[in-house]
Amino acid sequence: MSVERGFKIAVCGKGGVGKTLIAGTMARLLAKRGFKVLAIDVDSNPNLYSVLGIRLDTPLRPIVDREELIEERTGAKPGGWGLFFTLNPRVDDIPDKYSLISPEGIKLLTVGISRAGLGCMCPQNALVKALIDHIVLDRSEIVILDMEAGLEHFGRGTARGVDYLLIIIEPTIKSLETAKRSLLLARELGISRVWCILNKVKSSEEADYIIKKAIEMNLQVKAFIPYDINVVTAELLGVSIFDYNKNSPFILAIDKLCQYLLNDWYKGK
Ligand SMILES: Nc1ncnc2c1ncn2[C@@H]1O[C@H](COP(=O)(O)OP(=O)(O)OP(=O)(O)O)[C@@H](O)[C@H]1O
Ligand SMILES: [Mg+2]
Repeated sequence: MSVERGFKIAVCGKGGVGKTLIAGTMARLLAKRGFKVLAIDVDSNPNLYSVLGIRLDTPLRPIVDREELIEERTGAKPGGWGLFFTLNPRVDDIPDKYSLISPEGIKLLTVGISRAGLGCMCPQNALVKALIDHIVLDRSEIVILDMEAGLEHFGRGTARGVDYLLIIIEPTIKSLETAKRSLLLARELGISRVWCILNKVKSSEEADYIIKKAIEMNLQVKAFIPYDINVVTAELLGVSIFDYNKNSPFILAIDKLCQYLLNDWYKGK
């Protein structure tokens, strides 16, 4: 099989499991390997920029809050009632026009979340869906979506059409339960490659216990990321782990995960 395009990854999971840190670090490591990376922040409290090492001069203005853009592209004012709007708005120029650029050249598009309720077919959602669906990737391009915590985004269908869904879990039964529900919802969206990644592992006994529980719940843990004190120190110093220590166990584990994904996607090319 020959793979003519790069791929899209969505990173999801329970609150606080490490989605943003993992998504942002993957973006930086893939950019370092020479890939063009578009990082998309799909959280109502967007903070992916800081993991990417971007300093803000002006406050972030997510796409869903750009009323003029939404109206121009969909033909409807956000929040209007009973409106007709185009479900297939033009989106191809949006990443270039509205992205911030990180020191490694990663494009960051802050999309945000429409406040208009679960599953809503509102102009904002139409624009966001079209945006994520219609990004055309060449062979060396990768898109990484940092999702909001929990399961609501499945109802909005934001991640429909991604090539990989990474469900981040931590060593708690609650995060496994969220992962299980995410897996079922991902299948409904037709996402075929769903990988569970166990983060914040403190010991092999802990990992073994969680893997056993995951197997009982039909979840397959594909990779581990250790709990790393370097991450904590970096955070206290106000720098990202990538800038603090590129040889830290966290960074090395994320680099291995990137290699694993690349091998999987480009295998048999
Ligand atoms: N492997 C790790 N070792 C140590 N600390 C970690 C590790 N992974 C994540 N953390 C810490 O856990 C906290 C949550 O991480 P992060 O913000 O990436 O999670 P999130 O899933 O994006 O959260 P939210 O649901 O709020 O978006 C942060 O303080 C982060 O530094
Ligand atoms: Mg986050």
